[in-house]
Amino acid sequence: MAADDLTLRVAPRGTLAGRLRVPGDKSISHRAIMLGALAEGETRVGGFLEGEDCLATLRAFRALGVDIQGPEDGEVRIRGVGLHGLRAPAAPLDMGNSGTSMRLMAGLLAGQPFDTVLTGDASLTRRPMRRVTDPLARMGARIDTSADGTPPLHIHGGTPLQGRDYALPVASAQVKSSLLLAGLYARGRTCITEPAPTRDHTERMLAGFGLAVERGEGRVCLQGGGRLQGTRIQVPGDISSAAFFLVGASIAPDCRLTLEHVGMNPTRTGVIDILRLMGADIRVENPREVGGEPVADLTVSSAPLQGVEIPPALVPLAIDEFPALFVAAACARGRTVLTDAAELRVKESDRIQVMADGLLRLGIQAEPTADGMVIQGGDPDGGEVDSHGDHRVAMAFAMAALRARGPIRIRHCANVNTSFPGFVSLAAGAGLPIEAEENGA
Ligand code: S3P
Repeated sequence: MAADDLTLRVAPRGTLAGRLRVPGDKSISHRAIMLGALAEGETRVGGFLEGEDCLATLRAFRALGVDIQGPEDGEVRIRGVGLHGLRAPAAPLDMGNSGTSMRLMAGLLAGQPFDTVLTGDASLTRRPMRRVTDPLARMGARIDTSADGTPPLHIHGGTPLQGRDYALPVASAQVKSSLLLAGLYARGRTCITEPAPTRDHTERMLAGFGLAVERGEGRVCLQGGGRLQGTRIQVPGDISSAAFFLVGASIAPDCRLTLEHVGMNPTRTGVIDILRLMGADIRVENPREVGGEPVADLTVSSAPLQGVEIPPALVPLAIDEFPALFVAAACARGRTVLTDAAELRVKESDRIQVMADGLLRLGIQAEPTADGMVIQGGDPDGGEVDSHGDHRVAMAFAMAALRARGPIRIRHCANVNTSFPGFVSLAAGAGLPIEAEENGA
């Protein structure tokens, strides 16, 4: 569906209550397909996110010759072909809107004996790829980008890779993971040092597939030429999807909502820390571990939020949650200041500019800066905003309606399906007065 095909309309004064389960984690679902495909034997995945991004990864591996059954009710069966069993695809691989698919697969495909071309939609083909192609080139990979470093990527196969020691200039789990996947095919050791902790699902999952991964403070290494053994993966709920409800139930009066089975990997929980600094009432219940990832139920109740200066150390741990956090700040008392978050400008949209534009349309003082935003909290007006085809911007503004003085209409929302299929019905079931208008009618 084209991104201009869906408009969301949300009435004001809803409340959120009850219990719900958000769909599976996007990052973990991508990795489950990738590592399952490269493993020996069968991998069974439960709780797989059937969103467009992860389906793009799944289709790409089918095109690379991997037999994948499902998804059916979140169950996927992958018949792994081993590290050297992929086959040349007949056509370019379309990664849709998914930066994770493109960047991780660039590393993995650099180690193959055949050429591949990776393409994507209008948003993805604007996103920077040199952050992966430059360090991969140092390992020996040959990958062409367009002149400004954006997709399509033409990956030349048959080039031997050499393990390297690489210090990431920006905290990026996608770059780290891309290099680790290339490292599986490299001679010697591949080591990556990161400037700040980023999500570590790749490292955890490689270990779950039986590969020796050495991990130290801010550093991860692996030896090329290992083997992955097929396994069972249970994907937890995506904390990045839960984040919209954490914000919504905090800002609206009389809410009490339990989100079940949410992934609580400590490299992902910055949103809870930031919301708590703002005064949110979030209780973590039944902490447990499922398939190498921590999981818990979260109960969130309405609470008056205060503006804060967001600690820079929390930024990489909440990198996808800033659209929702900007809405929390817009409904808080006082000023919220975000710095050290220039990465937000190169996500599915320029999330600093797009969110500031939308908040201004709703009468909130939001001042974009080069690497963040200054927001003066208040009570948002109703109005029309544009998500610019960015799923997280769309869902964040949907939650803003809970505190707005009038209805909010959000344009270009079809991409909500990239990460959160069923968002409208799940949110409506919890009490958000939301309706989808097909074809922007
Ligand atoms: C992701 C890493 C993050 C995040 C993206 C998913 C991943 O990107 O924003 O949605 O699955 O590795 P960066 O690593 O580029 O920050």
